[in-house]
Amino acid sequence: MAPPASFAGARLLLRRLLSTATEAVTEAAAPASNAAAKAAKKKGARPLYRQLSALGKAGEGSVSRVMNKWVREGGTVRVEDLVKHVKDLRKYKRHAHALELMDWMVNARGMNMSHTNHAIRLDLIHKVRGIQAAENYFDDLPDPAKNHRTYGALLNCYCSEKMEEKAADLYRKMDELGIASSTLPINNLMTLYMKLGQHRKVDSLFEEMKVKNVKPVSLTCCILMTSYAASNKIDAIEELLKEMAEKDVDLQWSAYSTLASIYVNANLVEKAESALKKLEELVCDSDDRQPFDFLMSLYASAGNLSEVNRVWGVIKAKFFKVTNTSYLGMLQALYKLNDLDRLKQIFEEWESSYEAYDMRLTNMMIRAHLKSSKAEEAELLSEKAKEKVEELDSKTCELFLDYYVGKGDMTSALKWVENMTKLPKKAGKLDQDRIHKFQKYFEEHKDAEGAERFCKCLRTLGCIDGRAYESLLRTYLAAGKTNRSLRQQIKDDKIEICYDIGKLLKRMGDKGR
Ligand SMILES: *[C@@H]1O[C@H](CO)[C@@H](O)[C@H](O)[C@H]1NC(C)=O
Ligand SMILES: *[C@@H]1O[C@H](CO)[C@@H](O)[C@H](O)[C@H]1NC(C)=O
Ligand SMILES: *[C@@H]1O[C@H](CO)[C@@H](O)[C@H](O)[C@H]1NC(C)=O
Ligand SMILES: *[C@@H]1O[C@H](CO)[C@@H](O)[C@H](O)[C@H]1NC(C)=O
Ligand SMILES: *[C@@H]1O[C@H](CO)[C@@H](O)[C@H](O)[C@H]1NC(C)=O
Repeated sequence: MAPPASFAGARLLLRRLLSTATEAVTEAAAPASNAAAKAAKKKGARPLYRQLSALGKAGEGSVSRVMNKWVREGGTVRVEDLVKHVKDLRKYKRHAHALELMDWMVNARGMNMSHTNHAIRLDLIHKVRGIQAAENYFDDLPDPAKNHRTYGALLNCYCSEKMEEKAADLYRKMDELGIASSTLPINNLMTLYMKLGQHRKVDSLFEEMKVKNVKPVSLTCCILMTSYAASNKIDAIEELLKEMAEKDVDLQWSAYSTLASIYVNANLVEKAESALKKLEELVCDSDDRQPFDFLMSLYASAGNLSEVNRVWGVIKAKFFKVTNTSYLGMLQALYKLNDLDRLKQIFEEWESSYEAYDMRLTNMMIRAHLKSSKAEEAELLSEKAKEKVEELDSKTCELFLDYYVGKGDMTSALKWVENMTKLPKKAGKLDQDRIHKFQKYFEEHKDAEGAERFCKCLRTLGCIDGRAYESLLRTYLAAGKTNRSLRQQIKDDKIEICYDIGKLLKRMGDKGR
């Protein structure tokens, strides 16, 4: 049986799980005062944050400029406020700006960093400047600042970099210092071993937890369940859940969605549905959308269309605005369940109500059209999308490309490869498998012109190589054609004229020099 990470819902779940483990380090270290932040926002009392937020993708120095101006104009700077801004920037993945703000606090203002703030800064340094810089920062910390928080933050860096040995060493060191007996570092290490597929080590850490009398949390349960499922120990999961209940561990909705996805994948649909019922009970009063998106996706994986439609109804009734993520989830669910008429209906509903155009939704509709071989409707939709988005989308290209290749219509497929070369930043991808299919086709059909066009695309996409030229030459030979500029072109592409290419060139009538 495949591990649960083999379908999209579970992959999403795992990603969420892992990032939760990562974020937990610094979040737990300092819970933000949500209520205060909300109150401040309402009063419009955050002009400084608004300026920082407005920096968007501005480069290095921009944060310092805003801060210096703020101070010059008499603005107050309190450590607590600034740290709150750091956390908000971090939440929106503005890591470089968050770090620059912290650097400014220390370098320009001589502010003292609390141990918690050192931990946050270490995490940011890792994200912006890499693991080596984070290690150096840790080494340079004054001794009293080397406590469970900063050790924990460094451990988290090693774990997210999958640096097993360093993580294990550091954990041992923490153990010696007596600061390893808490949930956070153990969860982190467990996550690492789970990612590495070292399930025995996950188990032994759980044993260690019991010996040290460390109480597991919901996340611990998620990691263990995922690890059990990946090592085919589905039966152990029920025991685990009992143990969690005995220990009074509050399972969160993510535990139930993990459980449901494991059961779905093991084809235990009834058990999955019962986990989903528990999930829904737990979140029915919550204003978080994510669990409902998961419910929809998991019911789709369980093959239950009526529940998908029911949850969609709940989402629409519960939330004033339906987000593009929810729409996307619903389209994916209907695609999975093959209800393409309803999919079209939901897509049209979004099309007539969206605030921001989201190509992912259009791609989903294109995919659905292609699934029912309605290539013309799909092309029409992509034409229409051209008016809405500035740039062609790589996913769109791949969808059409694979569709036409699947139909054996290589002429249309080639057009989409050519479209792909117009993508910004070489976003298009052609793997060896796809490349091979084209080459085989051109050789078999003695289509030198097509092969030339294809090679031109490979060159633009930066993936032309010796094998591509061998195939091109074989196509020329098959077609009984010749081309005197090929040898030079191969040289221009900095490809070595190896024995095989040389031989093919000669056979084509190119004497060389
Ligand atoms: C920072 O901490 C050091 C040592 O604890 C102390 O001497 C110094 O006065 C503090 N500086 C500020 C600005 O609080
Ligand atoms: C879908 O779920 C509902 C509620 O759990 C259940 O009553 C129904 O039998 C399920 N339908 C299918 C097709 O599994
Ligand atoms: C989803 O919608 C929001 C707001 O409506 C928009 O800002 C965001 O860019 C959209 N997401 C994508 C991936 O297009
Ligand atoms: C991509 O190729 C198709 C032909 O298959 C064409 O209709 C479409 O306009 C092209 N798209 C772009 C953005 O060039
Ligand atoms: C000959 O080969 C070069 C390099 O691959 C290519 O640019 C050119 O179009 C080819 N000429 C013909 C007539 O196919």
